Amino acid sequence: MNVILLGAPGAGKGTQAEKISAAYRIPHVSTGDMLRDAVASGTPLGLEAKQFMDRGDLVPDALVVGIVKDRLSHADCDNGCLLDGFPRTVAQADALDGALSGVGKTIDAAVSIDVSEDELMSRLTGRRTCSGCDRVYHVVFNPPKAEGVCDVCSSPLYQREDDSEKTVSNRLRVYHEQTAPLVDYYESRGLLKNVDGNGSPDEVFQRVSAVVGARQ
Ligand code: AP5
Ligand code: MG
Ligand code: ZN
Repeated sequence: MNVILLGAPGAGKGTQAEKISAAYRIPHVSTGDMLRDAVASGTPLGLEAKQFMDRGDLVPDALVVGIVKDRLSHADCDNGCLLDGFPRTVAQADALDGALSGVGKTIDAAVSIDVSEDELMSRLTGRRTCSGCDRVYHVVFNPPKAEGVCDVCSSPLYQREDDSEKTVSNRLRVYHEQTAPLVDYYESRGLLKNVDGNGSPDEVFQRVSAVVGARQ
């Protein structure tokens, strides 16, 4: 099963991805996490990507498509995967279609998680991210058991550099201009599933499971 998670910054893609990945036993493929890992390790890709990410702009399609194609070729993706934060442009969506159809695979669903803009801002400015396993927390909505420490792997939590109010505003603008058109793109292919992203993470997960369908 290949599932795409669409949604504005802060809509809860990473939060839902963790739950879906565990319930449906498919790997969580997050381009944001892969790019942040590349930045942290100082690879040539990371050095190039950092300037775009710090501004809240999209990393060029060619770079992102390259890392996703490489990731999808790993054996753990043979039975499908959950794509979080990819595709983000029509060019990326076309590249994904080409890569999947080349190996006889298809997309099963594109789930769009919808949340109001005020809520997105408070979710992002209070987010804390695990430096070890990339799990996300929130200082108010989803605090860790011990302040500043991941419940699962005990690594320290950090605040993402692009979660400042100014950069979030640019990320939202970029989302509306470049990524929102994918809603129509997948709707026209009969793959779009809209999900209300308000309510607790577990309530949202119930809605996501209902539209994604039976676990395989
Ligand atoms: P990326 O890491 O993908 O960031 P994003 O799309 O901006 O989304 P976020 O990760 O900020 O939000 P999310 O929807 O995952 O929400 P989360 O679950 O964490 O991309 C970062 C950058 O990398 C981009 O700006 C770009 O530069 C680059 N990039 C990545 N992919 C790219 C691509 N394909 N092409 C080009 N460039 C790319 O939740 C947010 C907060 O809310 C958390 O604190 C969480 O605890 C809380 N929360 C979640 N659900 C709920 C709920 N139901 N109720 C209350 N709080 C909640
Ligand atoms: Mg995320
Ligand atoms: Zn962790």
